[in-house]
Amino acid sequence: MTAIPDRLRVRDLVRRRDARIVLDGLALDVAPAERVAVLGPSGSGKTTLLRLLAGLDAPDGGVIEIDGQVASTAGRVRLAPHRRGVGMVFQSAALWPHMTAAQNIGFAVHGRSAPETRARIVEMLARVGLEGMGERYPDQLSGGEARRVALARALAGDPRLLLMDEPLTSLDPALRADMLDLIDRMLAACRASLVYVTHLADEADRLAGRVVELDAGRLRPVR
Ligand SMILES: Nc1ncnc2c1ncn2[C@@H]1O[C@H](COP(=O)(O)OP(=O)(O)OP(=O)(O)O)[C@@H](O)[C@H]1O
Ligand SMILES: [Mg+2]
Repeated sequence: MTAIPDRLRVRDLVRRRDARIVLDGLALDVAPAERVAVLGPSGSGKTTLLRLLAGLDAPDGGVIEIDGQVASTAGRVRLAPHRRGVGMVFQSAALWPHMTAAQNIGFAVHGRSAPETRARIVEMLARVGLEGMGERYPDQLSGGEARRVALARALAGDPRLLLMDEPLTSLDPALRADMLDLIDRMLAACRASLVYVTHLADEADRLAGRVVELDAGRLRPVR
């Protein structure tokens, strides 16, 4: 019997920024459909870690495997970001300002015909509660709406792994609670694994089955 590979397997990950070692031999395993929250104060390297997992930067050392495939090694991104089966929600909603909400979502859909892509955009808008708002540009959306578009974009391509970088920063408490429910529901529906980065323990507890803390460049278990 062949074992199912971990969705994500990270070993000895090192990342230097200027003279500082930000990630220092970090290890992380995430199983299929598992949800892991990474806690850590500002500057601890949370965004640095997610960018390496997404393939946006190469590590200085170590290896990242996704679904049993080598994705990054020292100095090299071996599997391009769009080929990793990964969706990412950035620290700010980071929508492309020159594209409508629908175009932002459609950008993440690969390998479908034009009618299928349009149908997928309509479906994703509906799932995040933004029916009929596809033609709005980011500057015509509220902060909460923009976060919903960012979530729809991250999930539109059916990722097997969703990476979220403090996606709820600067939302008011009621909206934050709504968004946590929405993220929870959408993940349950698609069975993607999650790595959720935050400095807020309550968000970590709400969403994640396992919580780790980024401390001195490594992860240690919290619960
Ligand atoms: N482009 C860069 N050039 C040089 N140093 C950088 C760069 N990006 C980040 N760093 C440094 O790497 C360290 C980790 O930054 P990172 O953005 O990963 O922290 P973070 O945990 O995401 O913080 P926050 O909670 O504020 O978002 C910091 O010391 C930061 O100054
Ligand atoms: Mg950050």
